[in-house]
Amino acid sequence: MQRWTDPDGTARPDAGARLDWTTICLIVASPADVQRLRFQDEAERKRGQRISHMFDRIAPTYDLLNHLLSGNVDARWRKTAVKLLGLNGTERALDACTGTGDLAIALKKGGAGEVVGTDFAPAMLEVAREKEPSIRFDVADTTALPFPDDSFDVATVGFGVRNLDNLDAGLADLCRVLRPGGRLMVLEFNRPPNPVFRAIYHTYFMIVLPIIGNLVSGGADNAYAYLPRSVMAFPGPTELADRMRGAGFSEVEIKPLTFGVAYVHIATK
Ligand SMILES: C[S@@+](CC[C@H](N)C(=O)[O-])C[C@H]1O[C@@H](n2cnc3c(N)ncnc32)[C@H](O)[C@@H]1O
Repeated sequence: MQRWTDPDGTARPDAGARLDWTTICLIVASPADVQRLRFQDEAERKRGQRISHMFDRIAPTYDLLNHLLSGNVDARWRKTAVKLLGLNGTERALDACTGTGDLAIALKKGGAGEVVGTDFAPAMLEVAREKEPSIRFDVADTTALPFPDDSFDVATVGFGVRNLDNLDAGLADLCRVLRPGGRLMVLEFNRPPNPVFRAIYHTYFMIVLPIIGNLVSGGADNAYAYLPRSVMAFPGPTELADRMRGAGFSEVEIKPLTFGVAYVHIATK
């Protein structure tokens, strides 16, 4: 069910008023189907809570580790990804799963007219607000964004869709808040296609990175072992493009970065 909440988490007056696909399915579903959907909802809610707590706990060291573990390549990727959008200075942009706000800040520097950043981990947003007080950062779940339909020209998600408790619901809600013709840019890790490079990279990513990450972050929730696991379980670039089309987008462009360690997907509503 769509959860309609204000940024502070309180229910909006129109809560429950939308007749969405989940509601329609519940109307025609058998009691066994309803039970299964409830378990699925509950499992997703619990996974979402675990993930937001994990990011809240690593918030103080998140930026340091990002730059350290990637040799600052992450900053270059965000800049390249924003450049690919070719902003003209008038766009209203949403950066969902904004975390400590680096992609939102890159959007502002890269020419967006107005930027709003959202995330469901309040401690990550505290860091973002300190870095860039001129950007509005709101607490919000990317699978149930507190914005009306067609609110933004551009939406972005940097290293966030992989963490969504329900990827399809997140992509669908991002599509909903974009105006027709608006674009979604997703920057996300993936698995490099070249087997030799992949073997070398995976040794670093799956063995060295979790050790350094957990040492520096104090081992909070074993977050840096979660990172490679979540990348391994994530759909490949072509499947992600299909899921974006399934969520309501028409064209999807795919661009690999650094031999396919990360990819940019730009989808048009
Ligand atoms: C790896 S961080 C990426 C942060 C930032 N975008 C960047 O480029 O560094 C992933 C972020 O996604 C957020 N996140 C994951 N699932 C979310 C959801 N369902 N709703 C809102 N934020 C979510 C986490 O709280 C975390 O801050």
